Amino acid sequence: MRVILAPMEGVLDHRMRQLLSELNPYDLCVTEFVRVVNQPISDKVFYRLAPELKQGGKTRNGTPVRVQLLGQDPDWLGHNAARAIELGSPGVDINFGCPAKTVNRSKGGAVLLKEPELIHRIVSAMRQAVPADQVLSAKIRLGWECSSQTLEIAQAIESAGANELAIHARTKADGYRAEAIKWDAIAPVVDALNIPVIANGEINSFADGQRCQQASGCRDLMIGRGALSRPNLAAVVKHNADPLSWEAIRDVLAEYVTLEISGDKERYFPNRIKQWFGYLRQAYPEANTLFRELRQLQRSDEIIALLNAA
Ligand SMILES: Cc1cc2nc3c(=O)[nH]c(=O)nc-3n(C[C@H](O)[C@H](O)[C@H](O)COP(=O)(O)O)c2cc1C
Repeated sequence: MRVILAPMEGVLDHRMRQLLSELNPYDLCVTEFVRVVNQPISDKVFYRLAPELKQGGKTRNGTPVRVQLLGQDPDWLGHNAARAIELGSPGVDINFGCPAKTVNRSKGGAVLLKEPELIHRIVSAMRQAVPADQVLSAKIRLGWECSSQTLEIAQAIESAGANELAIHARTKADGYRAEAIKWDAIAPVVDALNIPVIANGEINSFADGQRCQQASGCRDLMIGRGALSRPNLAAVVKHNADPLSWEAIRDVLAEYVTLEISGDKERYFPNRIKQWFGYLRQAYPEANTLFRELRQLQRSDEIIALLNAA
């Protein structure tokens, strides 16, 4: 089985990818999306999104990092997909699952699930632009309002030449509600398609991974929020490793602080660490106590002092 680290815009950046890929046997990471409108994405933007491009498209420990695009214009998506590959991205991914209003208003992300024919045109254009030996992957939800068109959408993607398909097993209307997850809705797609299908959504433990594989028929799994609330989740899902203790998490936090501080920026670190604590406290009650103090702090040095004291 492969375990893939999901793309998470505003959350899973290169520092977090480095940290998590060092702790886990990830087979692949996917970057946050970069939005394509009607022009070339500059190399500078690609490198900001994925500094790993400068080291062969891999994290420091060698996990491949694939660039994800989002948009609606087949030609410009094709153009920018080709550029991402030239810069060293191992394959390229297209996002048809993002529910954000701003993104959907400009017709990118999940809104395209209403138009399987346009999805087909987009994937075809990207396929033509991307060398045949490079993976073209797509990520979808089950649908916009309902899942009646999941198979039609998946077939449009396969017939247009994609090599892999990740399915977040909820509709756009389901948002991120845990109880809405429908791993079994992926099974008909697995039966009908010849390309690998990757199941995604609400996998938080070894048992979840097993149940998801059984219900969906997928071997490969993708994990997102759980990868942040349980930092060694890929090792748990893949090898039934024990979840890290809170003491071990504190070491991971110390490592994260070094990564961030060697990087830069005054506002960035406080925001990101608070955001991460928002996830961590879902699995670690100990994070709650610390979070209450941490959220009051604005400065990096204060936050670091608090973490050190803890
Ligand atoms: C804050 C946040 C940002 C996300 N950003 C992206 C993104 O850039 N591209 C994408 O395809 N999916 C994105 N997703 C969706 C996740 O990749 C994933 O499909 C979803 O969270 C369900 O998986 P999970 O239950 O394991 O978190 C995002 C989700 C969250 C919560």
